[in-house]
Amino acid sequence: MAVNINKILILFSVVFFSVTIFAGEVFPPGGEHEGKNVEQPIEFPHNIHVKDNKINCMYCHTYARRSKVAGIPPTSKCMGCHKIIATDKPRIQKLTEYWEKKQSPKWKKVHDVPDFVHFTHERHLKKFVFDRDFPVENVKEVCAFCHGDVENMTVAHKVKPLNMGWCKSCHEANGGPGDCWKCHK
Ligand code: HEC
Ligand code: HEC
Ligand code: HEC
Ligand code: HEC
Ligand code: HEC
Repeated sequence: MAVNINKILILFSVVFFSVTIFAGEVFPPGGEHEGKNVEQPIEFPHNIHVKDNKINCMYCHTYARRSKVAGIPPTSKCMGCHKIIATDKPRIQKLTEYWEKKQSPKWKKVHDVPDFVHFTHERHLKKFVFDRDFPVENVKEVCAFCHGDVENMTVAHKVKPLNMGWCKSCHEANGGPGDCWKCHK
């Protein structure tokens, strides 16, 4: 009986140990890129929303957890707040004009990998957030692997290389696929 309990204890600690390794160890990618600010129809301040008002990245970029794209929120979502918040500010008045004309500001792309590259947000968020029970309120730390410190940006710009060598080295460090056809259709 004693032996069995010991075996169980050993099994337990082995399982516990492996779970900690699998769940905890993540090697964020290095690399830097000096992306220019992209001129947008309305300058959208991430810092005011994320840092000052604690709005979660995925509240606006809703699709990130379940599809290829993260998605830019529709104007209706902005107006949920801006019908009453900061209505005296010029940028909000411009936003309201779009809304009244039933149009959306034509946001320009900041990050854009070539079309022959297959990338999906869903798999990466599953791996780095949901599979390891990472607190969703801190998801910005995972977005930051690939987008940098958006929380402090007054205008979104590209700060990570997002080129092949960069993707591959993060795959190598974190057990992602190395086969050409996984990233190229
Ligand atoms: C959950 C509420 C909420 C949502 C949703 C939201 N905002 Fe805001 N936004 C705020 C708050 C709060 C401020 C700060 C207001 C202040 O300083 O008085 C702000 C400030 C701003 C400002 C700066 C205004 C200025 O000149 O000081 C802009 C521009 C802006 N928002 C655009 C947007 C756009 C575009 C969207 C949709 C993509 C959006 N907001 C969605 C709450 C929100
Ligand atoms: C209130 C809504 C809102 C929140 C919260 C928000 N974003 Fe955004 N985000 C936008 C809008 C609107 C744009 C388009 C304007 C732009 O690119 O500056 C955008 C653009 C971006 C882009 C550039 C998209 C491209 O074209 O490549 C990235 C990356 C991004 N957001 C990441 C984040 C991250 C990471 C967080 C959390 C730290 C976050 N966002 C929180 C509304 C939001
Ligand atoms: C593993 C790297 C990685 C992570 C993690 C990541 N992104 Fe991205 N993101 C990218 C790449 C690469 C692109 C460009 C995709 C393209 O051009 O097809 C992109 C594009 C975007 C865009 C613009 C296009 C779109 O998909 O709508 C937004 C917005 C965005 N990311 C937001 C986020 C947010 C918010 C998070 C965290 C919840 C996040 N990303 C996490 C790599 C990443
Ligand atoms: C933070 C590290 C990291 C970065 C940066 C990263 N990946 Fe990944 N990626 C992973 C990991 C880990 C997996 C495996 C996820 C799993 O096991 O579910 C993965 C999975 C994938 C898959 C899914 C493959 C399949 O089996 O369907 C594709 C496609 C992919 N990555 C493409 C890219 C591209 C393209 C880039 C660069 C623009 C990139 N990744 C950047 C870590 C990363
Ligand atoms: C982890 C994802 C990933 C893997 C695996 C991968 N690639 Fe790529 N590849 C990319 C990305 C991202 C780009 C776009 C680079 C850019 O925009 O600078 C790219 C670009 C390319 C290009 C265009 C030329 C260039 O260098 O920009 C070729 C050719 C290419 N890859 C071939 C391959 C081959 C062959 C393999 C297998 C040995 C492979 N790739 C594996 C992500 C990957």
